[in-house]
Amino acid sequence: MNAVIVVDHPAVQDRLTTLRRRETPPAVFRATLREIARFLAYEATRTLPIRSVPIETPMAPMDAPVFAEPPPIVLSILRAGNGLLDGVLDVIPHASGAFLGLARDHVTLQPIEYCWKVPEQVAGRPVFVVDPMLATGNSAVAAIERIRALGPSSVTLIALVAAPPGVARVHEVHPDVPIVVAAVDPILDHRGYIVPGLGDAGDRIWAT
Ligand code: URA
Repeated sequence: MNAVIVVDHPAVQDRLTTLRRRETPPAVFRATLREIARFLAYEATRTLPIRSVPIETPMAPMDAPVFAEPPPIVLSILRAGNGLLDGVLDVIPHASGAFLGLARDHVTLQPIEYCWKVPEQVAGRPVFVVDPMLATGNSAVAAIERIRALGPSSVTLIALVAAPPGVARVHEVHPDVPIVVAAVDPILDHRGYIVPGLGDAGDRIWAT
Protein backbone atom coordinates (compact mmCIF):
# COMPACT_ATOMS: atom_id res chain seq x y z
CA MET A 1 0.00 0.00 0.00
CA ASN A 2 1.37 3.42 -0.79
CA ALA A 3 1.70 6.23 1.69
CA VAL A 4 0.19 9.69 1.62
CA ILE A 5 2.75 11.92 3.27
CA VAL A 6 1.15 15.20 4.36
CA VAL A 7 3.89 17.72 5.04
CA ASP A 8 2.26 19.56 7.93
CA HIS A 9 5.29 21.64 8.88
CA PRO A 10 4.28 25.23 9.85
CA ALA A 11 6.62 26.66 7.19
CA VAL A 12 4.63 24.75 4.57
CA GLN A 13 1.17 25.39 6.01
CA ASP A 14 1.73 29.15 6.30
CA ARG A 15 2.82 29.33 2.67
CA LEU A 16 -0.11 27.16 1.59
CA THR A 17 -2.45 29.74 3.13
CA THR A 18 -0.79 32.42 1.00
CA LEU A 19 -1.47 30.29 -2.07
CA ARG A 20 -5.08 29.68 -1.09
CA ARG A 21 -5.91 33.39 -0.63
CA ARG A 22 -7.91 34.72 -3.57
CA GLU A 23 -6.05 38.05 -3.52
CA THR A 24 -2.50 36.61 -3.79
CA PRO A 25 -1.05 38.02 -7.03
CA PRO A 26 0.55 35.67 -9.61
CA ALA A 27 4.16 36.77 -8.92
CA VAL A 28 3.76 36.03 -5.20
CA PHE A 29 1.89 32.83 -6.01
CA ARG A 30 4.75 31.58 -8.25
CA ALA A 31 7.47 32.47 -5.74
CA THR A 32 5.58 30.89 -2.83
CA LEU A 33 4.81 27.75 -4.82
CA ARG A 34 8.50 27.39 -5.63
CA GLU A 35 9.33 27.70 -1.92
CA ILE A 36 6.77 25.06 -0.93
CA ALA A 37 8.01 22.80 -3.71
CA ARG A 38 11.42 22.75 -2.03
CA PHE A 39 9.90 21.53 1.24
CA LEU A 40 7.82 18.89 -0.53
CA ALA A 41 10.83 17.75 -2.53
CA TYR A 42 12.90 17.57 0.62
CA GLU A 43 10.39 15.04 1.99
CA ALA A 44 9.88 13.21 -1.32
CA THR A 45 13.61 12.70 -1.95
CA ARG A 46 14.36 11.40 1.53
CA THR A 47 15.05 7.86 0.29
CA LEU A 48 17.14 8.79 -2.77
CA PRO A 49 20.24 6.59 -2.79
CA ILE A 50 23.56 8.09 -1.81
CA ARG A 51 27.13 6.82 -2.05
CA SER A 52 30.34 7.68 -0.25
CA VAL A 53 33.23 9.47 -1.90
CA PRO A 54 36.63 10.24 -0.40
CA ILE A 55 37.09 13.99 0.18
CA GLU A 56 39.35 16.20 2.24
CA THR A 57 38.03 18.84 4.61
CA PRO A 58 40.46 21.53 5.76
CA MET A 59 40.96 19.30 8.84
CA ALA A 60 41.06 15.69 7.64
CA PRO A 61 40.25 13.18 4.90
CA MET A 62 36.87 11.47 5.17
CA ASP A 63 34.32 9.46 3.23
CA ALA A 64 31.36 11.77 2.57
CA PRO A 65 27.90 11.14 1.06
CA VAL A 66 26.85 12.38 -2.40
CA PHE A 67 23.83 11.59 -4.58
CA ALA A 68 24.26 8.20 -6.26
CA GLU A 69 23.95 7.73 -10.01
CA PRO A 70 21.80 7.57 -12.06
CA PRO A 71 20.28 11.04 -11.62
CA PRO A 72 16.52 11.36 -10.99
CA ILE A 73 13.96 12.71 -13.42
CA VAL A 74 11.32 15.31 -12.56
CA LEU A 75 8.27 14.80 -14.77
CA SER A 76 6.11 17.92 -14.91
CA ILE A 77 2.48 17.58 -15.94
CA LEU A 78 1.95 20.70 -18.02
CA ARG A 79 1.17 23.34 -17.43
CA ALA A 80 0.62 23.64 -13.68
CA GLY A 81 3.40 21.14 -12.92
CA ASN A 82 5.92 23.75 -14.04
CA GLY A 83 4.96 25.78 -10.99
CA LEU A 84 6.57 23.08 -8.81
CA LEU A 85 9.41 22.14 -11.16
CA ASP A 86 12.03 24.75 -10.26
CA GLY A 87 11.56 24.29 -6.52
CA VAL A 88 12.05 20.53 -6.85
CA LEU A 89 15.12 21.10 -9.03
CA ASP A 90 16.50 23.42 -6.34
CA VAL A 91 16.70 20.32 -4.09
CA ILE A 92 17.95 17.85 -6.72
CA PRO A 93 19.80 20.07 -9.20
CA HIS A 94 21.38 17.09 -10.95
CA ALA A 95 17.93 15.82 -12.05
CA SER A 96 16.67 15.88 -15.64
CA GLY A 97 13.40 17.55 -16.57
CA ALA A 98 10.63 15.74 -18.42
CA PHE A 99 7.28 17.05 -19.67
CA LEU A 100 3.86 15.57 -20.23
CA GLY A 101 1.22 17.85 -21.67
CA LEU A 102 -2.24 16.81 -20.58
CA ALA A 103 -5.32 18.90 -21.22
CA ARG A 104 -8.45 18.05 -19.30
CA ASP A 105 -11.61 17.35 -21.27
CA HIS A 106 -14.03 19.49 -19.31
CA VAL A 107 -16.95 17.14 -19.94
CA THR A 108 -15.40 13.72 -19.28
CA LEU A 109 -12.60 15.08 -17.00
CA GLN A 110 -10.31 12.62 -18.80
CA PRO A 111 -6.75 13.73 -19.76
CA ILE A 112 -5.85 14.29 -23.45
CA GLU A 113 -2.10 14.17 -24.26
CA TYR A 114 -0.54 16.95 -26.37
CA CYS A 115 3.18 16.78 -25.39
CA TRP A 116 5.60 14.05 -24.32
CA LYS A 117 9.29 14.94 -23.91
CA VAL A 118 11.46 12.78 -21.66
CA PRO A 119 15.19 11.97 -21.46
CA GLU A 120 16.44 9.16 -23.71
CA GLN A 121 17.22 6.97 -20.72
CA VAL A 122 14.50 6.57 -18.10
CA ALA A 123 15.15 2.92 -17.17
CA GLY A 124 16.63 2.55 -13.70
CA ARG A 125 16.20 6.22 -12.74
CA PRO A 126 13.97 7.50 -9.90
CA VAL A 127 11.10 9.67 -11.19
CA PHE A 128 9.23 12.43 -9.37
CA VAL A 129 5.93 13.33 -11.04
CA VAL A 130 4.88 16.89 -10.17
CA ASP A 131 1.41 18.43 -10.47
CA PRO A 132 0.04 20.86 -7.84
CA MET A 133 -3.56 19.61 -7.75
CA LEU A 134 -4.38 15.91 -7.31
CA ALA A 135 -8.11 16.20 -8.08
CA THR A 136 -9.68 13.23 -9.90
CA GLY A 137 -6.30 11.53 -10.16
CA ASN A 138 -6.80 10.89 -13.89
CA SER A 139 -3.81 12.99 -15.01
CA ALA A 140 -1.51 11.58 -12.34
CA VAL A 141 -2.48 8.00 -13.19
CA ALA A 142 -1.94 8.67 -16.91
CA ALA A 143 1.48 10.24 -16.24
CA ILE A 144 2.59 7.43 -13.93
CA GLU A 145 1.48 4.80 -16.47
CA ARG A 146 3.29 6.58 -19.31
CA ILE A 147 6.60 6.90 -17.45
CA ARG A 148 6.36 3.43 -15.87
CA ALA A 149 6.33 1.87 -19.34
CA LEU A 150 9.95 3.08 -19.64
CA GLY A 151 11.16 1.19 -16.53
CA PRO A 152 12.12 3.81 -13.90
CA SER A 153 13.52 2.48 -10.61
CA SER A 154 10.78 4.23 -8.60
CA VAL A 155 7.98 6.76 -9.04
CA THR A 156 6.91 9.32 -6.43
CA LEU A 157 4.06 11.79 -6.88
CA ILE A 158 4.50 15.32 -5.53
CA ALA A 159 1.34 17.45 -5.35
CA LEU A 160 0.38 20.52 -3.36
CA VAL A 161 -3.28 19.85 -2.54
CA ALA A 162 -5.10 16.54 -3.01
CA ALA A 163 -8.75 15.49 -2.85
CA PRO A 164 -9.71 12.08 -1.43
CA PRO A 165 -10.92 10.68 -4.81
CA GLY A 166 -7.57 11.56 -6.42
CA VAL A 167 -5.63 9.87 -3.64
CA ALA A 168 -7.92 6.80 -3.86
CA ARG A 169 -7.52 6.56 -7.64
CA VAL A 170 -3.71 6.69 -7.51
CA HIS A 171 -3.77 4.19 -4.63
CA GLU A 172 -5.98 1.85 -6.63
CA VAL A 173 -3.94 1.85 -9.85
CA HIS A 174 -0.43 2.42 -8.47
CA PRO A 175 -0.45 1.15 -4.87
CA ASP A 176 3.34 1.42 -4.57
CA VAL A 177 3.61 5.11 -5.53
CA PRO A 178 4.08 7.40 -2.51
CA ILE A 179 2.15 10.69 -2.65
CA VAL A 180 3.68 13.76 -0.99
CA VAL A 181 1.29 16.68 -0.44
CA ALA A 182 0.86 19.78 1.70
CA ALA A 183 -2.86 19.11 2.34
CA VAL A 184 -5.75 16.78 1.60
CA ASP A 185 -8.90 18.89 1.21
CA PRO A 186 -12.36 17.40 1.81
CA ILE A 187 -14.28 18.08 -1.41
CA LEU A 188 -13.97 17.49 -5.16
CA ASP A 189 -16.79 19.42 -6.84
CA HIS A 190 -18.79 18.37 -9.92
CA ARG A 191 -16.39 20.28 -12.24
CA GLY A 192 -13.37 18.46 -10.81
CA TYR A 193 -12.16 21.37 -8.64
CA ILE A 194 -10.82 20.86 -5.14
CA VAL A 195 -12.69 22.72 -2.35
CA PRO A 196 -11.56 24.81 -0.54
CA GLY A 197 -8.43 24.31 -2.71
CA LEU A 198 -6.94 27.36 -4.36
CA GLY A 199 -8.78 27.56 -7.67
CA ASP A 200 -7.21 26.76 -11.03
CA ALA A 201 -3.51 26.34 -10.28
CA GLY A 202 -2.46 26.89 -13.91
CA ASP A 203 -4.43 30.15 -14.14
CA ARG A 204 -3.03 31.37 -10.84
CA ILE A 205 0.58 30.53 -11.74
CA TRP A 206 0.48 31.85 -15.30
CA ALA A 207 -1.93 34.76 -14.78
CA THR A 208 -4.45 33.57 -17.36
N1 URA B 1 -6.90 21.58 -11.07
C1 URA B 1 -6.78 22.80 -10.52
O1 URA B 1 -6.03 23.62 -11.01
N2 URA B 1 -7.51 23.09 -9.43
C2 URA B 1 -8.36 22.21 -8.87
O2 URA B 1 -8.99 22.53 -7.86
C3 URA B 1 -8.46 20.93 -9.46
C4 URA B 1 -7.73 20.64 -10.55
